[in-house]
Amino acid sequence: MMAVANLDPTRIPRHVACVMDGNGRWARQRGLPRTEGHAAGEEALFDTVEGALELGVDWMTMFAFSTENWRRPPDEVRYLMHFNEGILTRHRDDLNSKGVRIRFAGRRDWRVPRRLIRHMDESVALTAANRRLTLTICFNYGGRAEIVDAVRRLVADGVSPDKIDEKALRSRLYWPDMPDPDVVIRTSGEFRISNFLLWELPYSELVFTDVLWPDFRRENLFDAVGEYQRRDRRYGGLEG
Ligand code: IPE
Ligand code: IPE
Ligand code: MG
Repeated sequence: MMAVANLDPTRIPRHVACVMDGNGRWARQRGLPRTEGHAAGEEALFDTVEGALELGVDWMTMFAFSTENWRRPPDEVRYLMHFNEGILTRHRDDLNSKGVRIRFAGRRDWRVPRRLIRHMDESVALTAANRRLTLTICFNYGGRAEIVDAVRRLVADGVSPDKIDEKALRSRLYWPDMPDPDVVIRTSGEFRISNFLLWELPYSELVFTDVLWPDFRRENLFDAVGEYQRRDRRYGGLEG
């Protein structure tokens, strides 16, 4: 596995995004309920954040719950709501002391429990002044929903059709100041995007790994960054 020392320090991605997938399969392999897989994903998440701090990544965006994940059994959904609340109370002070700014991206509809929203707001307020790393947690997030919400804002702002361009739309995304991800990692051997960051990832380097999310650790992040560093980004032009 890759160590930080083997990476090119001049080509550390500024923004790494991650689809944390495979919790259910990890649990099933062990004869455990799916929820145990989610619980085991907590260590993976915070070890990966530590790895990002070590690397000097500025932005980390983690897919925690999609607009489609409501289709799961009510017990699992309820577990995930409670679990995410627990994650915030268990880790926000530590993240704050390390200079991490916590943010959320997604819809705050009636299905998201009030208490969870309160914990989200508290975590955001606590860490708002931090700049070392911005950790955006995508919760009740969908890439299409984000674009639809941006279009609603364009209309609400009365923007005339000839004034609608990429800049106008981008400025109405959930976090207009967030740079596009340089690399998107998806775990668990699935080769799809599953409605993650659709607007933001046209030129992201995609890295797929068979590792199930609860087994993911900072060394796997370093591997992914190593793979990213071997890629040649062209943005539709010619190689440099
Ligand atoms: C990812 O793991 C976590 C969420 C989507 C909330 P899964 O729960 O999707 O795990 P698999 O894909 O069923 O193994
Ligand atoms: C994507 O994983 C969403 C999150 C990781 C939160 P899913 O497990 O929901 O995606 P699909 O259903 O396999 O495409
Ligand atoms: Mg999954």
